[in-house]
Amino acid sequence: MALFTVFGNPIAQSLSPQIHQLFAEQAQVSLNYSRSLTSPAQFSRAVAAFFRSGGAGANVTSPFKQQAYQLVTHVTARAASAGSVNTIVALGHGQLLGDNTDGYGLVRDLQRLGFDLTQLTIVLLGAGGASRGCLQPLLDAGAANLVLANRTLSKAQQCVEGLEHARLSVASLAELENQLEPLQQPYLLINATSAGLHGDQLALAPAIFAQATACYDMSYSPNPSLLTPFRQQAQKAGAPRTFDGLGMLIEQAGLAFQLWHQGIELDTRLVHQRLQQQL
Ligand code: ATR
Repeated sequence: MALFTVFGNPIAQSLSPQIHQLFAEQAQVSLNYSRSLTSPAQFSRAVAAFFRSGGAGANVTSPFKQQAYQLVTHVTARAASAGSVNTIVALGHGQLLGDNTDGYGLVRDLQRLGFDLTQLTIVLLGAGGASRGCLQPLLDAGAANLVLANRTLSKAQQCVEGLEHARLSVASLAELENQLEPLQQPYLLINATSAGLHGDQLALAPAIFAQATACYDMSYSPNPSLLTPFRQQAQKAGAPRTFDGLGMLIEQAGLAFQLWHQGIELDTRLVHQRLQQQL
């Protein structure tokens, strides 16, 4: 049976195994998809051991996406533009291809939820591996404006290097309010920071949540009746609508599944429905 895994830390709550099982049922293939907890110091060894033992493919989640980019032997154009990898495909003879399906997953999910990106400013919070993969895909999808906002401004500046674009700008979290005011355009606030994973809140003015068209968290809660910390913070601040990233997870997983099982067509809508029933 083909072996797959997802590397991350923390990883116990990941729904990726369940999602890939649903895709496997739909595609009528059998697979074994596990969770792999590792540490930054052990990550490369853990990946090498997994593929030596016959692994066919892996997903990579926080905080290893940039490390994965350094480790693979080949990268797709998508991963190169992101500088981070969330999907690894074994090519044989120790060769590993790194791709990044996050941006595709985010854009597909936003479209599924009915957002017209061409009419919105996207405010993307965080400048780590999670947001890197989404910058170019959001621009390609026609986002009217894209503001990358990060606690550490220099990291946001590094992130956009090489992505010269008239619709792209950077801000520090502290200065975000001043930067949004002159835009006078509805904005969608997207959380790509790891703040919630560590149990701390984002230092962001409540008005930024309250004035957003909607707030979207790339993280998700394995239990739909429990809101993610970002959604809790947004709702408390008066955000009109909030979403978590479960839909993005399904969409990015669907593309990863297709990279591993070339030529297979999938209907991700069925997996959205089935997963809602299972949770
Ligand atoms: P990931 O792969 O999940 O993106 P990462 O590369 O470690 O993880 O990046 C984490 C991001 O979350 C960074 O942008 C970090 O901000 P800094 O660059 O200033 O460190 C952001 N982050 C983490 N905790 C945060 C907090 N409490 N408030 C604001 N930003 C936070």
